[in-house]
Amino acid sequence: MTRAIRIAPSLLSADFARLGEEVTAVIEAGADLIHFDVMDNHYVPNLTIGPLVCQAIRPHATVPIDVHLMVKPVDALIPMFAQAGAAIISFHPEASEHVDRTIQLIRSHGVKAGLVLNPATPLSVLDHVLDQLDLVLLMSVNPGFGGQSFIEGTLPKIESLRRLIDRSGRDVWLEVDGGVKVDNAQRIAAAGADTLVAGSAVFNGGAYRQAIAGIRDSAQRGQQSSKALGGPGA
Ligand code: DX5
Ligand code: ZN
Repeated sequence: MTRAIRIAPSLLSADFARLGEEVTAVIEAGADLIHFDVMDNHYVPNLTIGPLVCQAIRPHATVPIDVHLMVKPVDALIPMFAQAGAAIISFHPEASEHVDRTIQLIRSHGVKAGLVLNPATPLSVLDHVLDQLDLVLLMSVNPGFGGQSFIEGTLPKIESLRRLIDRSGRDVWLEVDGGVKVDNAQRIAAAGADTLVAGSAVFNGGAYRQAIAGIRDSAQRGQQSSKALGGPGA
């Protein structure tokens, strides 16, 4: 089976003074999702944007808004982001006292639920919740900042997660976030990721269409090579 590759530009590297135009521009350039990074200067050492900004970009976002919550506590923000137009809400298990409850809360708003695993967070946190998730996001950098380097140890973790998801028989998206570039997208997709977040790689060069197409082509090559070899990304 060949999975669709989805590219999710992270607004963290966009021009915040022109956010609506940036959203329109990356969608015209081929973005499948808009990745929306929420940081609270508590769970992570940085402060970004909240539900009001999500609501403001909503009219421009003709693709799903993929909200990545790096906030603690997390529950109070979920109804607000659901109201503000989030299609997917993902959170870190370390930021919730009751992971199962937070997942149910997201789903109760008709929003897709995702769990985010930091580089040092083991896949075992998924043991009793994978069947309730629409997406698992593997961080390939420590959360808090754009423009960091991809942690290579994420690749075997992607492979293991791909096997877990395949065994579940459910269509759970496997997203990777942090340091994704044209030159590593191939290996990331070959390992089994289907949804690639890219912030600086899309926004910093200026040529959005070229950047998104480059990452997508590279990822599709990775998927094909994995398929040919019977690997995890097939
Ligand atoms: C980091 C954020 C990422 C970040 C990715 O905490 O979750 O989404 O914006 O940026 P790049 O692609 O520049 O690593
Ligand atoms: Zn993110």
